[in-house]
Amino acid sequence: MIRKAIIPAAGYGTRSLPITKVIPKEMFPVGVKPAIHYVVDEAFRSGVDQILIVVSKRKNLIVDYFDHSLELEAFLERENKQHLLDQYTIPDGEIYYTRQPYAKGLGDAIRIGEKFIGDEPFAVLLPDDIILEKGTPGLKQLIDDYTRFRSSIIGLNKVEPHLLSSYGVVKGTEIEAGTYKLDDIVEKPKQNPPSNLAVLGRYIFTPAIFRHLAKLTPGAGGEIQLTDAIKSLLKSEKCLGKIIAGQRFDIGSNKEYIKLQNLIGNSPASL
Ligand code: UTP
Repeated sequence: MIRKAIIPAAGYGTRSLPITKVIPKEMFPVGVKPAIHYVVDEAFRSGVDQILIVVSKRKNLIVDYFDHSLELEAFLERENKQHLLDQYTIPDGEIYYTRQPYAKGLGDAIRIGEKFIGDEPFAVLLPDDIILEKGTPGLKQLIDDYTRFRSSIIGLNKVEPHLLSSYGVVKGTEIEAGTYKLDDIVEKPKQNPPSNLAVLGRYIFTPAIFRHLAKLTPGAGGEIQLTDAIKSLLKSEKCLGKIIAGQRFDIGSNKEYIKLQNLIGNSPASL
């Protein structure tokens, strides 16, 4: 069972400036909900029951969003707008928060969750990757494989060759349809990507990842890179990659965010 998940949401969102000066990328609207709401729902729908969201000083909007608004609830009740109250859903599960003092990188944000996780396997979901699927939630697809293989598993999707330089890209051997035993991982390869399989922001890790995160020094872009910890993990234990069925949208890419908005805008009921 995977009971706990970390959602890192403390980055600067520099690719989406200037709006991210005041609105966190994780709070970008997708239909009438912020992006992170879909990801929190995905985690709970996948069987997770405790989530730690890593925020920063500038991200109080996220904490406020998942809290009750007593005045608003009282107002809707008084006005007999029960239907709006029903629609006003706060995900039903435990959400905890902690702060990352400096945005030193994704690896650093995960490292901060060590005490929350303790000594058990756990999930990581990046709130800027939204997955539209028709059946099984993206994270659940990884959890199902974890239950069978009991090793760390990284979510993957196939990406056009010219886009691979924007992602972590893996090298691996297919052990069954869509599942790979990983040999290597490269962060944003400028040339000769090892495959067309890009990392999608969903992961299951054994707690061993914290040992590897603890050893890291700043890597590409001066950041503590999760990819470097995975590279190190690969040397000491088996790690799998699994293609997640569904459509992935990286809302940190303006083009993909607008594509998702158009899709959802045309059928708001679908989400
Ligand atoms: P990204 O690299 O996509 O987000 O990290 P970013 O750094 O905010 O955005 P750009 O690249 O500058 O445009 C993936 C997730 O990890 C979080 C981000 O908030 C995002 O949800 N993150 C990143 C942290 O929590 N801490 C960090 O130091 C870096």
